[in-house]
Amino acid sequence: MTFALAACGGGGAGSGDEASEPAGNGGDSAAGDQTIGVAMPTQTSERWIADGQAVESQLEEAGYTVDLQFANDDIPTQTQQIDQMILQEVDLLIIASIDGTALTSQLDAAGAAGIPVIAYDRLINGSENVDFYVTFDNYNVGVQQATSLLVGLGLLNADGSENPDAPEGPFNIEVFAGSPDDNNAGFFFNGAMDTLKPFLDDGTLVVPSGQTEFDTVATLRWSQEAAQRRMEDLLTSTYTGGEELHGVLSPFDGISRGIITALQGAGYGPTLEEGLPVVSGQDAEIASVTLIDQGVQFSTIFKDTRKLATESVRAAQAFLEGSEPEANDTETYDNGVKVVPSYLLESDIVYADNITELLVDSGYYTAEQVEQGS
Ligand code: BGC
Repeated sequence: MTFALAACGGGGAGSGDEASEPAGNGGDSAAGDQTIGVAMPTQTSERWIADGQAVESQLEEAGYTVDLQFANDDIPTQTQQIDQMILQEVDLLIIASIDGTALTSQLDAAGAAGIPVIAYDRLINGSENVDFYVTFDNYNVGVQQATSLLVGLGLLNADGSENPDAPEGPFNIEVFAGSPDDNNAGFFFNGAMDTLKPFLDDGTLVVPSGQTEFDTVATLRWSQEAAQRRMEDLLTSTYTGGEELHGVLSPFDGISRGIITALQGAGYGPTLEEGLPVVSGQDAEIASVTLIDQGVQFSTIFKDTRKLATESVRAAQAFLEGSEPEANDTETYDNGVKVVPSYLLESDIVYADNITELLVDSGYYTAEQVEQGS
């Protein structure tokens, strides 16, 4: 946050000025000769577009040439893009993987060519050649998602403290997890389920479908459509005798919107005030922020992609200058071959009443974007 670079990632909207002087390296001409390959998973989710633009613009500000590629959530496309970057002899790779286990041969090739690899937000598993990992505190993201669900149900106060006047319940909830090939999904799910556990154990919360295992509730590729279908199936298989659903743990805004569509289609809501269940989220995607503002989705988690970009640029600069980036976690992220030194950022829970403070005042979105949803 104290880096000069932090100031230049406005809105994740690609504020890079290719003609500007390299920042952060005193105009070192070496950076100008270096190319960094940036592999992002998809452009179907707004979050990754913002990440790609923020990384690209901040690297360019620092004087590097950038090869930015998006892979449409298609694993062969991503492996080909990375193969190509290695063939072109990029100086460093920043990779947000689609499937964290599918890049072993690419990483072997990068290692053999002496190209440092930074895993961006998603850990790459099963390889020695992951040099650094920049991400958020993913377990805590899950804690925050569950906390917001409990706040929405009135079981906790907005600051996360116990509510002495909490309603007794029981409340019916259903739970969703993210993509099983994304290492983060398990962290989010574990953080969330550990937080819900005391309420499930004492019967305040009930999962009427009985579906609480990660493998059963996971959503391949974080698909909005798959989540909508699963919610529709749950409603027709489990909520047939007039049972009311009160809340849904959702790990990502796209999934949240699929769930909300299914719920509204079944006659809930359309707003929270009119009985729509409390649905959590993640990423503060603009479409979801607007739904929160309108009293439809209850919450999301804001992960400032500008700061993540800044950390990845900082790590890249360290490697390219022959030093090691500073880690703040050297224990948590074991990729099956080694513990990858990591830099974890903090995230925030977004509710209707702090959208302005967290997202507008920080310049992430304009008030007009929040109003319009795009
Ligand atoms: C990211 C989340 C995102 C999800 C779906 C995860 O790896 O950490 O922020 O919601 O992918 O794109």
